[in-house]
Amino acid sequence: MRLVMIGSGYVGLVSGACFADFGHDVVCVDKIAAKIEALNKGIMPIFEPGLAEIVRNNVYAGRLKFSLDLADAVKGADAVFIAVGTPSRRGDGHADLAYVYAAAKEVAAASTGYTVVVTKSTVPVGTGDEVERIIKRFNPDANIDVVSNPEFLREGAAISDFKRPDRIVIGTDSKRAEEVMRAVYRPLYLNEAPILICERRTSELIKYAGNAFLAMKISFINEMADLCEKVGADVQKVAKGIGLDKRIGDKFLHAGPGYGGSCFPKDTLALVKTANDHDMSLGLIEATVDFNEKRKRAMARKIVAACGGNVRDKKIAILGLTFKPNTDDMREAPSLSIIQALQDAGADVHAYDPEGMDPAREFLKEVTYGANGYDIAAAADALVIITEWDIFRALDFSRLKTLMKSPVLVDLRNVYKGDEVVQNGFTYVGVGR
Ligand code: UDX
Repeated sequence: MRLVMIGSGYVGLVSGACFADFGHDVVCVDKIAAKIEALNKGIMPIFEPGLAEIVRNNVYAGRLKFSLDLADAVKGADAVFIAVGTPSRRGDGHADLAYVYAAAKEVAAASTGYTVVVTKSTVPVGTGDEVERIIKRFNPDANIDVVSNPEFLREGAAISDFKRPDRIVIGTDSKRAEEVMRAVYRPLYLNEAPILICERRTSELIKYAGNAFLAMKISFINEMADLCEKVGADVQKVAKGIGLDKRIGDKFLHAGPGYGGSCFPKDTLALVKTANDHDMSLGLIEATVDFNEKRKRAMARKIVAACGGNVRDKKIAILGLTFKPNTDDMREAPSLSIIQALQDAGADVHAYDPEGMDPAREFLKEVTYGANGYDIAAAADALVIITEWDIFRALDFSRLKTLMKSPVLVDLRNVYKGDEVVQNGFTYVGVGR
């Protein structure tokens, strides 16, 4: 099959590369010339484990191409995926659909023959209807069906999430489009990935409802963590205890500094806006968003408390900046708010992250970046784990103790067992324990 990905960002690039790996012919299109030029040289615009290799193999095999020429790519394609960004619009929190609609216009002008246009970007309910209207308005003769097919890729695990998905959701009423989409995903039948076919609006809502539920689950366990601290219970045992109940499930119950990233913060806000537009409010999701926002600064207060209530002119060493490990993504990372709050309180912040320091420099200008965890720990008043990269899971505490001014570890991801750290002469502060 001939497939086109419009947008060679996270979703478009991972999906395009994986579709090519399944044997389809794929063209990934983007408007940024430098990005296409780099991709053609094998340079990835993002850090995602395994991606560079899949891209290299499929470019070599001639199944994957990168292009600036959308019209040329769309000509004769079986399916065109719109995988452009839908950031939160400044001011009102609605998803900004300008890039989606611009892509729809270009597809309208370029499509020849029957083409399935697939919205893969996360788009509010009803966007598929608007994409269809736009295409029909710009090209009344266009022979297209517009389908919703949300992505559920986790950064850092995107390739395996794509190849072994929990489910594939396809939103369409058209039998013909359904057949095309089934053919697109046929290679995954081998892995027995369940395909859910539903109405387009339902499919659009599934994506938001899924992310909102997961965000709510995280805020729930974080709130329980706060309660654990008050009553002297252990949130990890609470998570295990409730997670063994199959109705609850054990995933997404890790207490921490709050969720971040390109999806949960944006999608929860957009869902609240959708409800508001329909004269209702989503109290549970609003509470989730509000709690998560406040939590980040609460984590800074936890660090200050661990330093005896004052961090003015103290050196705080931060391990991990990205919103989670195995990505270089700094979008909505809890570290941004936590570090800002520490600096507001007068702290001298030093940081190390295996992949996130370059992107972080743009947002965190007053931070001193180090070469590794031990480098930044020298003469520090406290060491703080914000992101649980593997490299921080086996720290040499005796070495750290000799380096640091005061041996204090604030472990915002509960990577360590507190008593083991304490045995090494450290003061240990975790989350919800
Ligand atoms: C998420 C969804 O998982 C994915 O299906 C969707 O398509 C895009 O958004 P992603 O943002 O890459 O993926 O990361 P995810 O692993 O879901 O983590 C999101 C945030 O929640 C991170 O900041 C992470 O640290 C936090 N988190 C996750 C917790 O604090 N506790 C948990 O138990 C799980």
